[in-house]
Amino acid sequence: MAFSAEIITWYNRHKRDLPWRQTTDPYVIWLSEVILQQTRVVQGLPYFHRFLSHYPDVIAFASAPEEEILLHWQGLGYYSRARNMHHAAKAVVSTYGGVFPNRYDELVKLKGIGEYTAAAIASFSANEAKAVLDGNVFRVLARYFGIDDPINSSRGKKLFSELANDLLDRTHPGLYNQAIMEFGAIQCKPGSPNCNDCVLRLDCRALKEKRVNQLPVKIKGKASRNRYFNYFVVRKDNQILMNKREKGDIWENLYELPLVETPQQVDLRELSMAAEVLDAFGANADLRLIAGPVKHVLSHQNLFAQFVAVDRPEPFENKKINWNYVFIKDLGTLAKPKLIYSFLKEYMIK
Ligand code: ADE
Repeated sequence: MAFSAEIITWYNRHKRDLPWRQTTDPYVIWLSEVILQQTRVVQGLPYFHRFLSHYPDVIAFASAPEEEILLHWQGLGYYSRARNMHHAAKAVVSTYGGVFPNRYDELVKLKGIGEYTAAAIASFSANEAKAVLDGNVFRVLARYFGIDDPINSSRGKKLFSELANDLLDRTHPGLYNQAIMEFGAIQCKPGSPNCNDCVLRLDCRALKEKRVNQLPVKIKGKASRNRYFNYFVVRKDNQILMNKREKGDIWENLYELPLVETPQQVDLRELSMAAEVLDAFGANADLRLIAGPVKHVLSHQNLFAQFVAVDRPEPFENKKINWNYVFIKDLGTLAKPKLIYSFLKEYMIK
């Protein structure tokens, strides 16, 4: 059987039952695809249901306040995805009268929709013959055809893209695209692929050449930058001090605890002598480590965060514009990065 037919037959037998596979509505497919970028299916599922129930169509999505969208997104990470979605939803309302486009050429013009997402939406919703190329597809093709061109080199990208489009089943592009991604996700897995009972094992070049674990090849990107975040827990009665982040850095507009960033990891003694800390809390404040340092990995940064309780701070007189007391019972209404959300949850500050 030909490659595409083999993949589709496998898919019909092994596919997972996932809710976004029951629809051809490009809005719903868009929601699922953006949620699933950089996110595993099990983690994305509750968010998919949450967004669909709050925003059943693109008009509802576009009319929601950004703060509310960010709050529903809380915990998923890569918040620019949510902001871009809001931007795209508004453009769909203003340009297409609220009718979500389903053609590749229109979809790629929307913010946050790249080649992969446009191909996914266009093929799943309208059977447009555009091959998807995501991490799963790169892996399956690199292994089956034994290709060691790096998937992120320009030569490699071109080669894989041409190959993917050649293989595309033109009578069932949507089905084939779903199938090859699913095959990569649950059969031809990154770490421990299931080669012994794989339908493609007889013709898989990587398996024949014992290179399954060496493919695909990826050129290492720039090393991540390390940053050292010192977060302060400052409570007053049933309130807690929070900071709203600004533009120009990670986590724009999200809420976090008051932060002092240091050029390297510091202990409490060093931290208590930092000018910013003395300024904010006074010389008589006591610092007490609650948690950390914990490592939190972002796409180009490694954050090392420690959480420090401040006892007996100087009365806080709005010294910092963005630091404000918030009632602990209202913390749930603020959109926070996952690092902060998880800390507050674990330490029962809710
Ligand atoms: N990952 C990205 N898109 C997906 C989809 N449509 N189904 C399952 N996993 C996915």
